[in-house]
Amino acid sequence: MIVLGIESSCDETAAAVLVDGVLRSNVIAGQEVHRTWGGVVPELASRAHQENIVPVVDEALRQAGVARQQLSGVAFTQGPGLIGALLVGACFARSMAQALKVPLLAVDHVQAHVLAHFVRDGDPRPVPGFPFLNLTVSGGHTQLVLVRSPLDMEVIGSTTDDAAGEAFDKGAKVLGLAYPGGPLVDKLAREGDPRRYKLPMPSVPGLDMSFSGVKTAFLNLVRNVEAEAPEALERERPHLCAVLQQAIIDQLLARTRQAMKAHGLARVGIAGGVSANSGLRQALVELGEREGWRTFIPPLAYCTDNAAMIAVGGAFLLEAGRTAPLDIVPKASL
Ligand code: KG4
Ligand code: ZN
Repeated sequence: MIVLGIESSCDETAAAVLVDGVLRSNVIAGQEVHRTWGGVVPELASRAHQENIVPVVDEALRQAGVARQQLSGVAFTQGPGLIGALLVGACFARSMAQALKVPLLAVDHVQAHVLAHFVRDGDPRPVPGFPFLNLTVSGGHTQLVLVRSPLDMEVIGSTTDDAAGEAFDKGAKVLGLAYPGGPLVDKLAREGDPRRYKLPMPSVPGLDMSFSGVKTAFLNLVRNVEAEAPEALERERPHLCAVLQQAIIDQLLARTRQAMKAHGLARVGIAGGVSANSGLRQALVELGEREGWRTFIPPLAYCTDNAAMIAVGGAFLLEAGRTAPLDIVPKASL
């Protein structure tokens, strides 16, 4: 079974090839064009996807040593994401499936982030058994997902406002760091003291979360530091990064612990772009050791947006016979 996966939901054009469940190639073209604007500009993203998609797919097939005619199915991200960006991948995948007369497989991007745990690439690592809890943390989503099987997932908690990645990115912007700020906050936080300042822990009922209060409190904190002296912000930046990161991690892990207990689970995973955060990875492992959980953290390459997870999602759909009609449309808020 040979599945091509295509991802185009935001600002990465990506393609991957899976041969009998094993990843043979995983190609990503990023989009530098957004950097000057301090965030992703949807129309520029769509145009860059149009330029990138043919060479990226060609390169993924070439690296995998696979000819188009050998494909068993074409998987693509149906949503959620930027509609113009999604359209490029969806139209390309539909055309390819039609021309090759192979099944089309419509993959949910957020579900695919969870399936990053199941990317097999020849490097042996443990795969979660079912059921397990997944903390999905990306630029657009923050969810606690009860995963019963690869195609049976239930969201049992989510953010009521900003996503965790947004909190990182907006906090970074306040500190004058480039977009996307998450990885820079991560890097600077390693030199800072997370206990130097205190940010409030929001009180949201149940298993839900909230990050907009953290963002506002952080903005006020930075303003106060700036008001102290002109050079204060420069000096305090690593500490401020550490404080912001800790506040986000504390909330995520408090809810994770609560969800694990409420559902009597012993296996936990993280996925999505924010799961690349070194502080979160370490804190989850430590919490898991204390609580006696088995912890699953995908390699960095499968945490941020990639097409390997889309190909894996496609393979599960193909196995289950859940193919998509050729007139399927992408959905911004799937
Ligand atoms: O999953 P992803 O690549 O795209 C979406 O589906 O949103 O997630 C992107 C998010 C951005 O907010 C980015 O700042 C954040 O993941 N991110 C990080 C790190 N690497 C990426 N946040 C904190 N620490 C990191 N190391
Ligand atoms: Zn994503």
